[in-house]
Amino acid sequence: FDAVDVIRAKRDGGRVPEDALRWMVDAYTRGYVADAQMAAFAMAVLLNGMERDEIRVLTEAMIASGERMSFAALGKPTADKHSTGGVGDKITLPLAPLVATFGVAVPQLSGRGLGHTGGTLDKLESIPGWRAALSNDELMAQLSDVGAVVCAAGTGLAPADKRLYALRDVTGTVEAIPLIASSIMSKKIAEGTDALVLDVKFGSGAFMKDIDRARELAETMVALGADSGVRTTALLTDMTTPLGLAVGNANEVRESVEVLAGGGPSDVVELTVALAREMLALAGRPDVDVAAALADGRAMDTWRRMIRAQDGDPDAPLPMPRETHTLTADRAGVVTRLDAFGVGVAAWRLGAGRARAEDPVVHAAGIDLHVKPGDVVTAGQAVLTLSADDPARFARALESLDGAWEIGDTAPERAGIVRERI
Ligand code: URA
Repeated sequence: FDAVDVIRAKRDGGRVPEDALRWMVDAYTRGYVADAQMAAFAMAVLLNGMERDEIRVLTEAMIASGERMSFAALGKPTADKHSTGGVGDKITLPLAPLVATFGVAVPQLSGRGLGHTGGTLDKLESIPGWRAALSNDELMAQLSDVGAVVCAAGTGLAPADKRLYALRDVTGTVEAIPLIASSIMSKKIAEGTDALVLDVKFGSGAFMKDIDRARELAETMVALGADSGVRTTALLTDMTTPLGLAVGNANEVRESVEVLAGGGPSDVVELTVALAREMLALAGRPDVDVAAALADGRAMDTWRRMIRAQDGDPDAPLPMPRETHTLTADRAGVVTRLDAFGVGVAAWRLGAGRARAEDPVVHAAGIDLHVKPGDVVTAGQAVLTLSADDPARFARALESLDGAWEIGDTAPERAGIVRERI
């Protein structure tokens, strides 16, 4: 095969033959196909799309580039969740222990944040002592004993995707549905879970700004899961406003613990329970009372064991910010809009996120919301509190909050956070 023929086929809107596509991915992983050629191919895919069958072959080729894990030896069903990323999305923290409480193992291999969406590992690292890196043996032992693990994904899963994703990031080719779907699903299928629930977000704080594109991505990924024997469903969920009242790292852990204690913001509880029900149903436990395990402390017990198993202290105080700055309402009325993207970028600029993969995050930095869209406010009432270690960070964060919220006279329509199931 010749990489130029593969690029030309896609450039001219044709199909790439199955064996040529498998070869292209394998040769790229081995370094025989150059970054420039793969970038040209990715751009041709972005412009001309791929048929379902080509996306399946691309996904299989990326899985074949690395190792495949298996949890068959555990002797219990496994279920995993993947979110396409949002602002204030801490759902993995209460969800993994909640689902594990019912005897379903949750191997949640997670990532770090880049850009305005946070990373689950960054959030958990606010807990003193907690470590993200586990060996395969530690992972299996913890899944067997505790049932829930949130840890860093090893580098052995889908290495072709790792290279291709980094290349797409710098060539304007991230936003292609065939490439996003194969990237996410190759990692999840290689991980070896029996069941997978996808939380596909839409709205200003999400990757997919409109629900139609989110639906297309969800349908593509659900089909890829079915092709490889992973029971997969997707929920389309609203990301126009941040999830919950905390955006950052330590503050998101605090909010997750509130949910595990039976409280917490209603949208976080709603989404946690909806995703848990999906995971448990796919894993063969459709009839359990999910909400009861939050109310009676069983999920909290699993959380504490999960944190301890990774050397974290669930009772240790979480880092507190050195500096805070509160924004208040300039008039009375009702909050009509509080934009997820603006809040996400502001939290990132405060130090909660990173600009380069190797940068550290500031665990106590972030934003606390005092109100949500639909809430009535009086003039002078607190709307947002910004936290940082260095007051010099506030000016740039405030720029991204300019115009990010509105107070009006009529309440916006309140719709549930879960809009569709696929
Ligand atoms: N997340 C991924 O893992 N891959 C993509 O292409 C986009 C989001």
